[in-house]
Amino acid sequence: QALLNKILKAPKAELHMHIEGSLEPEQIFAFARRNKVKLAYDSVEALRAAYAFTDLQSFLDIYYAGASVLLKADDFYEMTRAYLDRARADNVIHTELFFDPQTHTERGVPVQAVVEGIEAAMADVEREHGLTSKLILCFLRHLPEQAALAAFKDALPMFERYGDRLVGIGLDSSERNHPPSSFARVFGKARDRGLRLVAHAGEEGPPAYIHEALDILRVERIDHGVRSIEDPALVKRLADARIALTVCPLSNLKLMVFDDMKNHSLKTLLDAGVAVTVNSDDPAYFGGYVNDNYVAVAEALELGEQDLYALARNSLEASFVDAPQRRAMI
Ligand code: ADE
Ligand code: ZN
Repeated sequence: QALLNKILKAPKAELHMHIEGSLEPEQIFAFARRNKVKLAYDSVEALRAAYAFTDLQSFLDIYYAGASVLLKADDFYEMTRAYLDRARADNVIHTELFFDPQTHTERGVPVQAVVEGIEAAMADVEREHGLTSKLILCFLRHLPEQAALAAFKDALPMFERYGDRLVGIGLDSSERNHPPSSFARVFGKARDRGLRLVAHAGEEGPPAYIHEALDILRVERIDHGVRSIEDPALVKRLADARIALTVCPLSNLKLMVFDDMKNHSLKTLLDAGVAVTVNSDDPAYFGGYVNDNYVAVAEALELGEQDLYALARNSLEASFVDAPQRRAMI
Protein backbone atom coordinates (compact mmCIF):
# COMPACT_ATOMS: atom_id res chain seq x y z
CA GLN A 1 0.00 0.00 0.00
CA ALA A 2 2.83 2.38 0.86
CA LEU A 3 4.47 1.37 -2.39
CA LEU A 4 1.30 2.05 -4.36
CA ASN A 5 0.98 5.46 -2.75
CA LYS A 6 4.52 6.23 -3.81
CA ILE A 7 3.83 5.39 -7.43
CA LEU A 8 0.58 7.36 -7.48
CA LYS A 9 2.53 10.39 -6.30
CA ALA A 10 5.54 9.88 -8.58
CA PRO A 11 5.98 12.40 -11.39
CA LYS A 12 5.23 10.69 -14.69
CA ALA A 13 4.61 11.32 -18.39
CA GLU A 14 1.67 9.92 -20.31
CA LEU A 15 2.66 9.17 -23.90
CA HIS A 16 -0.25 7.16 -25.31
CA MET A 17 -3.53 8.90 -24.88
CA HIS A 18 -6.13 9.57 -27.57
CA ILE A 19 -7.79 12.83 -26.59
CA GLU A 20 -11.09 11.69 -28.14
CA GLY A 21 -10.86 8.69 -25.81
CA SER A 22 -11.08 10.97 -22.78
CA LEU A 23 -14.73 11.84 -23.51
CA GLU A 24 -16.83 10.53 -20.63
CA PRO A 25 -20.46 9.55 -21.41
CA GLU A 26 -21.76 12.59 -19.49
CA GLN A 27 -19.63 14.87 -21.66
CA ILE A 28 -20.74 13.10 -24.83
CA PHE A 29 -24.39 13.76 -23.93
CA ALA A 30 -23.69 17.38 -22.97
CA PHE A 31 -21.93 18.08 -26.29
CA ALA A 32 -24.63 16.20 -28.24
CA ARG A 33 -27.36 18.34 -26.68
CA ARG A 34 -25.48 21.56 -27.24
CA ASN A 35 -24.54 20.72 -30.84
CA LYS A 36 -27.85 19.00 -31.71
CA VAL A 37 -26.14 15.77 -32.71
CA LYS A 38 -28.30 12.64 -32.55
CA LEU A 39 -26.87 9.68 -30.66
CA ALA A 40 -27.85 6.03 -31.01
CA TYR A 41 -28.20 5.77 -27.19
CA ASP A 42 -31.02 7.20 -25.03
CA SER A 43 -29.06 7.88 -21.89
CA VAL A 44 -25.66 8.07 -20.24
CA GLU A 45 -26.38 4.66 -18.68
CA ALA A 46 -27.31 3.08 -22.02
CA LEU A 47 -24.13 4.42 -23.58
CA ARG A 48 -21.97 3.21 -20.72
CA ALA A 49 -23.64 -0.19 -20.89
CA ALA A 50 -22.49 -0.45 -24.51
CA TYR A 51 -18.85 -0.36 -23.35
CA ALA A 52 -18.59 -4.15 -23.40
CA PHE A 53 -15.92 -4.77 -25.98
CA THR A 54 -14.73 -8.02 -27.52
CA ASP A 55 -11.88 -6.70 -29.64
CA LEU A 56 -10.39 -3.48 -31.03
CA GLN A 57 -13.03 -3.02 -33.74
CA SER A 58 -15.96 -3.33 -31.33
CA PHE A 59 -14.43 -0.47 -29.35
CA LEU A 60 -13.58 1.70 -32.37
CA ASP A 61 -17.20 1.61 -33.62
CA ILE A 62 -18.39 3.21 -30.35
CA TYR A 63 -15.38 5.50 -30.05
CA TYR A 64 -16.04 7.08 -33.46
CA ALA A 65 -19.75 7.47 -32.60
CA GLY A 66 -18.73 9.26 -29.37
CA ALA A 67 -16.39 11.60 -31.25
CA SER A 68 -19.24 12.65 -33.57
CA VAL A 69 -20.48 15.17 -30.97
CA LEU A 70 -17.34 17.32 -31.37
CA LEU A 71 -17.98 20.19 -33.74
CA LYS A 72 -16.47 23.45 -32.52
CA ALA A 73 -13.04 24.58 -31.34
CA ASP A 74 -14.66 25.14 -27.92
CA ASP A 75 -15.66 21.47 -27.74
CA PHE A 76 -12.05 20.42 -28.34
CA TYR A 77 -10.90 22.98 -25.80
CA GLU A 78 -13.24 21.72 -23.06
CA MET A 79 -12.47 18.07 -23.74
CA THR A 80 -8.71 18.67 -23.58
CA ARG A 81 -8.92 20.89 -20.53
CA ALA A 82 -10.94 18.24 -18.65
CA TYR A 83 -8.40 15.54 -19.49
CA LEU A 84 -5.39 17.67 -18.48
CA ASP A 85 -7.03 18.58 -15.17
CA ARG A 86 -7.71 14.88 -14.55
CA ALA A 87 -4.10 14.02 -15.46
CA ARG A 88 -2.78 16.51 -12.91
CA ALA A 89 -4.53 14.52 -10.19
CA ASP A 90 -2.39 11.51 -11.23
CA ASN A 91 0.82 13.56 -11.03
CA VAL A 92 1.31 13.58 -14.78
CA ILE A 93 3.86 16.33 -15.42
CA HIS A 94 4.05 15.91 -19.19
CA THR A 95 1.74 14.34 -21.76
CA GLU A 96 1.77 13.67 -25.49
CA LEU A 97 -1.75 13.48 -26.87
CA PHE A 98 -2.98 11.82 -30.05
CA PHE A 99 -5.82 13.17 -32.14
CA ASP A 100 -7.47 11.80 -35.29
CA PRO A 101 -8.13 14.67 -37.75
CA GLN A 102 -9.81 12.41 -40.31
CA THR A 103 -12.55 11.52 -37.80
CA HIS A 104 -13.50 15.19 -37.69
CA THR A 105 -12.77 16.53 -41.18
CA GLU A 106 -15.02 13.86 -42.73
CA ARG A 107 -17.89 15.42 -40.70
CA GLY A 108 -17.03 18.88 -42.03
CA VAL A 109 -15.07 20.06 -38.97
CA PRO A 110 -11.95 21.90 -40.19
CA VAL A 111 -8.62 20.64 -38.85
CA GLN A 112 -7.96 24.24 -37.81
CA ALA A 113 -10.84 24.14 -35.27
CA VAL A 114 -9.60 20.81 -33.90
CA VAL A 115 -5.99 21.88 -33.38
CA GLU A 116 -6.86 25.40 -32.23
CA GLY A 117 -9.14 24.11 -29.47
CA ILE A 118 -6.77 21.39 -28.25
CA GLU A 119 -3.73 23.67 -28.39
CA ALA A 120 -5.40 26.50 -26.46
CA ALA A 121 -6.28 24.13 -23.60
CA MET A 122 -2.70 22.79 -23.57
CA ALA A 123 -1.28 26.32 -23.45
CA ASP A 124 -3.63 27.39 -20.65
CA VAL A 125 -2.90 24.37 -18.46
CA GLU A 126 0.84 24.73 -19.03
CA ARG A 127 0.69 28.39 -18.03
CA GLU A 128 -1.59 27.84 -15.04
CA HIS A 129 -0.20 24.60 -13.66
CA GLY A 130 3.10 23.80 -15.39
CA LEU A 131 1.85 20.55 -16.95
CA THR A 132 3.63 20.49 -20.33
CA SER A 133 2.22 18.75 -23.38
CA LYS A 134 2.71 17.94 -27.04
CA LEU A 135 0.33 16.87 -29.77
CA ILE A 136 0.66 14.02 -32.29
CA LEU A 137 -1.54 13.78 -35.38
CA CYS A 138 -2.62 10.20 -36.11
CA PHE A 139 -3.69 8.76 -39.44
CA LEU A 140 -6.51 6.23 -39.60
CA ARG A 141 -5.06 3.03 -41.01
CA HIS A 142 -8.43 1.54 -42.04
CA LEU A 143 -8.53 4.25 -44.73
CA PRO A 144 -6.18 4.23 -47.74
CA GLU A 145 -2.80 5.94 -47.69
CA GLN A 146 -4.17 8.46 -50.20
CA ALA A 147 -6.52 9.72 -47.47
CA ALA A 148 -3.61 10.02 -45.03
CA LEU A 149 -1.59 11.97 -47.61
CA ALA A 150 -4.54 14.33 -48.12
CA ALA A 151 -4.99 14.75 -44.35
CA PHE A 152 -1.29 15.50 -43.97
CA LYS A 153 -1.41 18.12 -46.70
CA ASP A 154 -4.53 19.65 -45.16
CA ALA A 155 -2.75 19.88 -41.78
CA LEU A 156 0.54 21.39 -43.03
CA PRO A 157 -0.45 24.94 -41.97
CA MET A 158 -1.10 23.55 -38.46
CA PHE A 159 2.41 22.06 -38.31
CA GLU A 160 3.77 25.47 -39.29
CA ARG A 161 1.65 27.50 -36.89
CA TYR A 162 1.81 25.18 -33.89
CA GLY A 163 5.19 23.58 -34.54
CA ASP A 164 6.35 23.83 -30.92
CA ARG A 165 3.44 21.73 -29.79
CA LEU A 166 2.32 19.69 -32.80
CA VAL A 167 5.51 17.68 -33.05
CA GLY A 168 4.72 14.44 -34.79
CA ILE A 169 2.53 11.88 -36.50
CA GLY A 170 1.20 8.46 -35.56
CA LEU A 171 -0.89 5.63 -36.97
CA ASP A 172 -3.98 4.20 -35.29
CA SER A 173 -7.41 2.56 -35.78
CA SER A 174 -8.01 -1.03 -36.97
CA GLU A 175 -4.70 -2.87 -37.03
CA ARG A 176 -5.59 -6.25 -38.50
CA ASN A 177 -4.86 -6.37 -42.27
CA HIS A 178 -3.65 -2.76 -42.24
CA PRO A 179 0.16 -3.08 -42.07
CA PRO A 180 2.45 -0.13 -41.37
CA SER A 181 4.16 -0.64 -44.74
CA SER A 182 1.03 0.74 -46.46
CA PHE A 183 1.88 4.17 -44.99
CA ALA A 184 5.52 4.42 -46.06
CA ARG A 185 5.04 7.49 -48.25
CA VAL A 186 3.22 9.67 -45.75
CA PHE A 187 5.68 8.76 -42.99
CA GLY A 188 8.54 9.56 -45.42
CA LYS A 189 7.10 13.01 -46.01
CA ALA A 190 6.75 13.65 -42.28
CA ARG A 191 10.31 12.44 -41.70
CA ASP A 192 11.55 14.84 -44.38
CA ARG A 193 9.96 17.68 -42.42
CA GLY A 194 11.74 16.62 -39.24
CA LEU A 195 8.58 15.46 -37.45
CA ARG A 196 8.66 12.87 -34.66
CA LEU A 197 7.26 9.48 -35.64
CA VAL A 198 5.29 6.84 -33.75
CA ALA A 199 2.85 4.08 -34.76
CA HIS A 200 0.48 1.63 -33.13
CA ALA A 201 1.84 -1.86 -33.80
CA GLY A 202 1.63 -5.25 -32.14
CA GLU A 203 -1.61 -4.53 -30.27
CA GLU A 204 -3.76 -6.99 -32.24
CA GLY A 205 -1.37 -7.23 -35.18
CA PRO A 206 1.62 -9.59 -35.41
CA PRO A 207 5.23 -8.85 -34.39
CA ALA A 208 6.02 -8.41 -38.10
CA TYR A 209 4.07 -5.14 -37.96
CA ILE A 210 6.46 -3.88 -35.27
CA HIS A 211 9.44 -4.70 -37.50
CA GLU A 212 7.72 -2.86 -40.37
CA ALA A 213 7.01 0.20 -38.22
CA LEU A 214 10.71 0.34 -37.26
CA ASP A 215 12.26 -0.55 -40.62
CA ILE A 216 9.87 1.06 -43.09
CA LEU A 217 8.19 3.91 -41.17
CA ARG A 218 11.31 4.47 -38.99
CA VAL A 219 9.27 5.27 -35.89
CA GLU A 220 10.96 6.22 -32.62
CA ARG A 221 8.42 4.60 -30.28
CA ILE A 222 5.93 1.77 -30.68
CA ASP A 223 2.41 2.27 -29.34
CA HIS A 224 1.35 -0.93 -27.55
CA GLY A 225 3.92 -3.41 -28.96
CA VAL A 226 2.81 -6.01 -26.42
CA ARG A 227 2.81 -8.82 -29.01
CA SER A 228 6.58 -8.33 -29.43
CA ILE A 229 6.78 -11.00 -26.71
CA GLU A 230 6.09 -13.62 -29.42
CA ASP A 231 9.37 -12.79 -31.20
CA PRO A 232 12.47 -13.09 -28.95
CA ALA A 233 14.77 -11.50 -31.56
CA LEU A 234 12.43 -8.51 -31.69
CA VAL A 235 12.40 -8.18 -27.89
CA LYS A 236 16.20 -8.09 -27.96
CA ARG A 237 16.13 -5.52 -30.74
CA LEU A 238 13.73 -3.25 -28.81
CA ALA A 239 15.84 -3.55 -25.67
CA ASP A 240 19.18 -2.94 -27.42
CA ALA A 241 17.90 0.10 -29.31
CA ARG A 242 15.95 1.43 -26.30
CA ILE A 243 12.80 1.71 -28.41
CA ALA A 244 10.06 2.62 -25.93
CA LEU A 245 6.75 0.77 -25.89
CA THR A 246 3.74 2.82 -24.80
CA VAL A 247 1.79 0.02 -23.14
CA CYS A 248 -1.87 0.43 -22.07
CA PRO A 249 -2.73 -2.39 -19.67
CA LEU A 250 -6.44 -1.71 -18.98
CA SER A 251 -7.03 -1.18 -22.71
CA ASN A 252 -5.38 -4.53 -23.47
CA LEU A 253 -7.59 -6.24 -20.92
CA LYS A 254 -10.83 -4.58 -22.12
CA LEU A 255 -10.07 -5.35 -25.77
CA MET A 256 -9.10 -8.91 -24.88
CA VAL A 257 -5.52 -8.70 -26.07
CA PHE A 258 -4.84 -10.60 -22.81
CA ASP A 259 -7.48 -12.74 -21.08
CA ASP A 260 -6.21 -11.85 -17.61
CA MET A 261 -3.95 -9.05 -16.35
CA LYS A 262 -1.82 -11.77 -14.75
CA ASN A 263 -0.92 -12.90 -18.29
CA HIS A 264 0.09 -9.45 -19.53
CA SER A 265 3.54 -9.33 -21.17
CA LEU A 266 4.59 -6.05 -19.48
CA LYS A 267 6.72 -7.56 -16.71
CA THR A 268 8.51 -10.02 -19.01
CA LEU A 269 9.32 -7.19 -21.44
CA LEU A 270 10.53 -4.96 -18.61
CA ASP A 271 12.75 -7.77 -17.26
CA ALA A 272 14.18 -8.23 -20.78
CA GLY A 273 15.34 -4.60 -20.70
CA VAL A 274 12.66 -3.07 -22.91
CA ALA A 275 11.78 0.59 -22.19
CA VAL A 276 8.18 -0.09 -21.22
CA THR A 277 5.88 2.79 -20.24
CA VAL A 278 2.35 2.73 -18.77
CA ASN A 279 -0.49 4.74 -20.31
CA SER A 280 -4.27 4.90 -20.44
CA ASP A 281 -5.03 4.89 -24.23
CA ASP A 282 -8.75 5.83 -24.02
CA PRO A 283 -9.43 6.19 -20.29
CA ALA A 284 -13.13 7.05 -20.53
CA TYR A 285 -13.75 3.75 -22.34
CA PHE A 286 -11.37 1.40 -20.56
CA GLY A 287 -12.21 2.08 -16.94
CA GLY A 288 -9.19 3.97 -15.72
CA TYR A 289 -6.76 6.85 -16.00
CA VAL A 290 -2.99 6.44 -15.91
CA ASN A 291 -2.61 5.78 -12.18
CA ASP A 292 -5.33 3.11 -12.39
CA ASN A 293 -3.18 1.42 -15.03
CA TYR A 294 -0.11 1.49 -12.75
CA VAL A 295 -2.14 -0.01 -9.90
CA ALA A 296 -3.64 -2.72 -12.13
CA VAL A 297 -0.25 -4.00 -13.34
CA ALA A 298 1.45 -3.53 -9.97
CA GLU A 299 -1.12 -5.82 -8.35
CA ALA A 300 -1.60 -8.41 -11.10
CA LEU A 301 2.10 -8.76 -11.96
CA GLU A 302 3.40 -8.22 -8.41
CA LEU A 303 5.69 -5.39 -9.46
CA GLY A 304 8.28 -4.17 -7.01
CA GLU A 305 9.53 -0.68 -6.29
CA GLN A 306 12.32 -1.01 -8.87
CA ASP A 307 9.83 -1.98 -11.58
CA LEU A 308 7.44 0.85 -10.81
CA TYR A 309 10.22 3.38 -10.63
CA ALA A 310 11.57 2.12 -13.98
CA LEU A 311 8.15 2.50 -15.61
CA ALA A 312 7.76 6.11 -14.45
CA ARG A 313 11.33 6.97 -15.35
CA ASN A 314 10.97 5.36 -18.80
CA SER A 315 7.94 7.57 -19.47
CA LEU A 316 9.95 10.72 -18.84
CA GLU A 317 12.96 9.47 -20.83
CA ALA A 318 10.90 8.39 -23.84
CA SER A 319 9.08 11.71 -24.14
CA PHE A 320 9.71 14.14 -26.99
CA VAL A 321 10.67 17.06 -24.75
CA ASP A 322 14.00 18.67 -25.46
CA ALA A 323 17.10 17.59 -23.55
CA PRO A 324 17.21 20.40 -20.94
CA GLN A 325 13.56 19.86 -19.95
CA ARG A 326 14.11 16.09 -19.84
CA ARG A 327 17.11 16.52 -17.54
CA ALA A 328 15.03 18.77 -15.29
CA MET A 329 12.19 16.23 -15.13
CA ILE A 330 14.20 13.11 -14.30
N1 ADE B 1 -7.76 4.63 -31.50
C1 ADE B 1 -8.03 4.91 -30.22
N2 ADE B 1 -7.53 3.96 -29.42
C2 ADE B 1 -6.92 3.05 -30.21
C3 ADE B 1 -6.21 1.84 -29.99
N3 ADE B 1 -6.02 1.33 -28.77
N4 ADE B 1 -5.75 1.17 -31.05
C4 ADE B 1 -5.96 1.63 -32.28
N5 ADE B 1 -6.60 2.75 -32.54
C5 ADE B 1 -7.08 3.46 -31.52
ZN1 ZN C 1 -3.99 3.80 -28.80
